[in-house]
Amino acid sequence: MKFICLTLLLVSGITDSRSEQYTVVGPADPVFAVAGEEVILPCSVKPSISVVDMRVEWFRLDLKDSVHLYEDHEDRNTEQIQSYRGRTKLIHQELQRGNASLKLSTVQISDEGRYKCFIQSKSWFDDGTVDVRVQAVGSPPVITVDGFDRSGGLHLQCESEGWYPEPDLEWLDSEGVSLSSETTETHRNTDRFSVKHTITVYHSGKIHCRVKLRHHMLETLMNTTNNMFISWRTSVILISVLVVLVVIAGILIAVFVHKHRAHDQLQNEKSRIQNEKSRIQHERDQLLQMQKIILPKAVSHLRTHTVNVILDPDSAHPRLIVSHDGKQVECGNTLNAVDGGKERFDCYLGVLGKDGFSSGCFYFEVQVKDQTEWDLGVTRESSNRSGSLRLSPQKGYWTVRRRDVRYWALADSQSVPLSLRVKPQRIGVFVDYDQGLVSFYDVESMSHIYTYTDQSFNEKLYPCVGLEYMWKWTNENSTTLIICDD
Ligand SMILES: *[C@@H]1O[C@H](CO)[C@@H](O)[C@H](O)[C@H]1NC(C)=O
Ligand SMILES: *[C@@H]1O[C@H](CO)[C@@H](O)[C@H](O)[C@H]1NC(C)=O
Repeated sequence: MKFICLTLLLVSGITDSRSEQYTVVGPADPVFAVAGEEVILPCSVKPSISVVDMRVEWFRLDLKDSVHLYEDHEDRNTEQIQSYRGRTKLIHQELQRGNASLKLSTVQISDEGRYKCFIQSKSWFDDGTVDVRVQAVGSPPVITVDGFDRSGGLHLQCESEGWYPEPDLEWLDSEGVSLSSETTETHRNTDRFSVKHTITVYHSGKIHCRVKLRHHMLETLMNTTNNMFISWRTSVILISVLVVLVVIAGILIAVFVHKHRAHDQLQNEKSRIQNEKSRIQHERDQLLQMQKIILPKAVSHLRTHTVNVILDPDSAHPRLIVSHDGKQVECGNTLNAVDGGKERFDCYLGVLGKDGFSSGCFYFEVQVKDQTEWDLGVTRESSNRSGSLRLSPQKGYWTVRRRDVRYWALADSQSVPLSLRVKPQRIGVFVDYDQGLVSFYDVESMSHIYTYTDQSFNEKLYPCVGLEYMWKWTNENSTTLIICDD
């Protein structure tokens, strides 16, 4: 009887997921947005079934953080990137028609990037990508007369600022023929570009300066007259002579005064820094030496507290594959058919150990190898496993993590970057329940990674390993995480 039930459950699970298969489609071409205006990021499911009951999440592919989340029939933006606050909107009527396009208002230059639109039903998921390019139109160009040269030409300069991305600047003569600039300068302040080009003209007449982007253009015209050529010549000669004299005198005085003062100061500072440097060098060497002796002893002591950790498939996210012996976990490409009764991870790709501990010390080791996205540590029995989680002590998680090439611990108020000299292959986790201490070690290089101290535990702690959020999971050649037994 049990067997028949199970078969029925599996068969219905499979047909269910077939009937709900869909693809998520984004635009093939980049979407262009204008800074300060509003833009629609298109995304829809094919065939166009309603996504009202599904989870729709928009996030930045490069920042890997949430831009907009719709779940359980409402918008839930508590984990949203700060700069998107109040600027995103999903049209709920459109969701019925399978249209999950995101409306983004008051576009900023920092909004430029690749976005993922991730749509997940109970048994299926897919995503589409939208490439957003932002353009900002700068100030109208300004042409000024900048000087004149010996052969009688007039130097003109054209400037314009506030553009994004970098615009093209072009000089045109009265016939509309493009002239080449003599010097070109581009500056980037915060995120916008300013450009400045110069040209020398030898005849009076009209000249245009045109600044343009792919979809926008601004232009200014200047009439150069014969008068300009003559008056510039006289005034420029006078002014140049005067300026040169003043500058030379100034430089001579400054150099004389400065040389004397600066030299002494520099010498003192130099020797002080040298001393400080060698003192620090010496202290560091001593510490490293001590660490080399102490840590292997400490780790072998910690190992005496090793416990047999077996991963609990009933706590695992439906996309995780936990081996039969409960010693290995990896991320699969589909969602497993699972019962919903148990408190399991539903967004975050996590899994707990079967057994929890509520006193004394315990220790276990996890082999992470070359996996580039993982979290591991311990968690409270009662901590939340549903939705977006912040794996911090406040939320009942004491973990360290790797994201690409960076490592972090998550203290309550902030993420603490960890600077590790080598990439750890195997990590030891030590917990002293009564002292309120959770420590992490790189077992192969015998170095300490991070310790949470002065924590207070008042319920069972479970070993916990994970691989990022399901919707952020982009790790193509995923490596299995292994609980070590030797
Ligand atoms: C999807 O909804 C947006 C508004 O959010 C609308 O501008 C767009 O035209 C809709 N797309 C389709 C294919 O209906
Ligand atoms: C430039 O000269 C033209 C005539 O050649 C005149 O129509 C125009 O108003 C002048 N523009 C400026 C800015 O002086």
